Amino acid sequence: MQPYWEVLEEILIDEESLQRRIAELGAEISRDYADSDALMLVCILRGAVPFLVDLMRHITVPHTIDFLAVSSYGRGVRQSRGDVRLTFDLQSSIRDRDVLLVEDIIDSGHTIASVLELLNARQPRSLRVCALLDKSERREVVVPIHYRGFEIPNKFVFGYGLDLDEYYRNLPFIGVVNLEKYQPPE
Ligand code: IMP
Ligand code: MG
Repeated sequence: MQPYWEVLEEILIDEESLQRRIAELGAEISRDYADSDALMLVCILRGAVPFLVDLMRHITVPHTIDFLAVSSYGRGVRQSRGDVRLTFDLQSSIRDRDVLLVEDIIDSGHTIASVLELLNARQPRSLRVCALLDKSERREVVVPIHYRGFEIPNKFVFGYGLDLDEYYRNLPFIGVVNLEKYQPPE
């Protein structure tokens, strides 16, 4: 795999800006859930992992964490259709819990819409969405985003959890991909 700097067109959100905004989100969530004794953060694997880890350290309300993974059918063409399949389920019950879904990016909205539908059926006490990035120009279905880190333009981005063919999730910033320079693995 190429080093990231060969693929990086520009840094869209630098590390300091990310961390500052995540601290704000954590403070806001801490205020809103101050009276909750049942907060659970649900992280959507794998892209939201760095975000969850940084966000939870700014949440002062006692809470648990859990993970789920989904995949869309017919990927590769860069579009999800709403056919979202659960590939890894939560290990705990969300019944009567205040569930906060933690997601890296909302693009068409199909992924989060499917997850919301799925989790709603399990009767949580409440269910909200916290998304680091919102690419609202590409939205195809209406989804509620209660906590939003950044609105971003319609560009393909990577880093801080977001991958290019599973690589570069470790970068501490969000970068724009230079699609002319990127060479996908065989
Ligand atoms: P949606 O179902 O179209 O909202 O897709 C959301 C998912 O697509 C995210 O969880 C990401 O995995 C992926 N995705 C969307 N846009 C980007 C991007 O710019 N870079 C990396 N992954 C992205
Ligand atoms: Mg994702």
